[in-house]
Amino acid sequence: MSEKKQTILSGMQPTGSLHIGNLEGALRNWVRLQDDYWMFCCIVDWHALTAAGGQTKDLKERIFEMTIDWLASGLDPEKCAIFIQSEVKEHAELHLLFSMLITVPTLTRLPTYQEKKEQLDSYGFLGYPVLQAADICVYNAHKVPVGKDQEKHIWLANDLAKRFNSTYRKVLVEPEALLTEIPLIPGSDDRKMSKSYGNHIPIDFTEKQTQKKIASYFTDPKKVHRGDPGTPEKCPVFLLHRVYSENPDQEIAPGCRSGELGCVDCKKTLSDNINEALQPIRERRVELVKTPDYIWDVLQTGAERARHRAQSVMEKVRAAMKMAYRKKKK
Ligand code: TRP
Repeated sequence: MSEKKQTILSGMQPTGSLHIGNLEGALRNWVRLQDDYWMFCCIVDWHALTAAGGQTKDLKERIFEMTIDWLASGLDPEKCAIFIQSEVKEHAELHLLFSMLITVPTLTRLPTYQEKKEQLDSYGFLGYPVLQAADICVYNAHKVPVGKDQEKHIWLANDLAKRFNSTYRKVLVEPEALLTEIPLIPGSDDRKMSKSYGNHIPIDFTEKQTQKKIASYFTDPKKVHRGDPGTPEKCPVFLLHRVYSENPDQEIAPGCRSGELGCVDCKKTLSDNINEALQPIRERRVELVKTPDYIWDVLQTGAERARHRAQSVMEKVRAAMKMAYRKKKK
C-alpha cells in the first residue's frame, strides 16, 4: 500500500441486520472504496445511545448482526479496519476538546436537531454531530462517504478541524464529504426504506420472504388490473427494477405503460432478480453466523489498528494544545 493513500472514515449506527437500502446506498460503495483508500469502518455504538435514551438492550446482538452483514457484503478485514467506536476512547477525548470550539446555537440550528428535539433533548443528542466530527478527525480522514442528509454534519466536522487548526496549530486534516450517486431504494409503502418504518427488505430474508414483501409493494394506484396502463416513473417497484434488473427501460417500462405487463408478473421478475443478486451475500452470511469467535476477533483486531492511528493523531493534538505534560526528551 502506498503512503500517499488517502484515508476514509465511514460510520453506521448498529441497527442490527441490514436491509437492501443500506446495502445499495452505502455498503457497496464502501466495498469499492476499500481498494483505493485506508478505510476505517466504525460501528458507532455511542451514537446509538442518543436515539435509545441510553438503552443498551440488544446492542451487542445488533453490533454482531451488522458486522456479519458488512463482512458478507464484501468488506474485507485485511483491507479495512472494522471496529466499534467505544473501543477507541480517543473519540471521546477529541469530542470533549471539540465541544469547546463550537457554540450551542450552531448545534441547535442543525436540521437533524430541529427534527427530533421534541423527542430527544439530551445533552448527548445535542452533541451528536460533535462526536461525529471527532469520529472523523481522530483518524485524520480526508473523505467521508455519506448521503445528502449527512452533508451538514461533514461540513461541521470540516469547520471544527479548521477551528482547531487556526486556534492551535495545523495538525488536523479538514475532511470532506464523498457524495456518491446513490440509487434510491424505496420501501414497500413508497417511503424511504427504513427498519423503523417496517417497509424494508432485510438482506437475510429468505427468498420466499423477499417475494412476499415485493408482492406487498405499493404500486401505481391507477393500475389495478393487467391491461390498465401504468406509470413506471411513479412506481417504487420500477425504481427497484432500475437497480436489480437489466434493461428495465426496454424490458419493463413499455409493458407497464401499455398495460400488457401486470403488476403481479412485474413483481415476480423483480423478486427473482433481487434474490439472485443477494444469493452470494446470503450464503456467506449463513457461514459467518456459525463463527462468532471470528466476528469478535475481526472487531478486536480492527480496534487495535484504529487505536494505533487515533493515538498518534491525539498525541499531535495534545502537543499542539501544549497539553502534552511530560518531561522533556533528552
Ligand atoms: N450520523 C451518521 C448516520 O446517522 C452515523 C455516523 C456517526 C457517521 N459517526 C459518523 C457517519 C462518522 C460517517 C462518519 O448515518
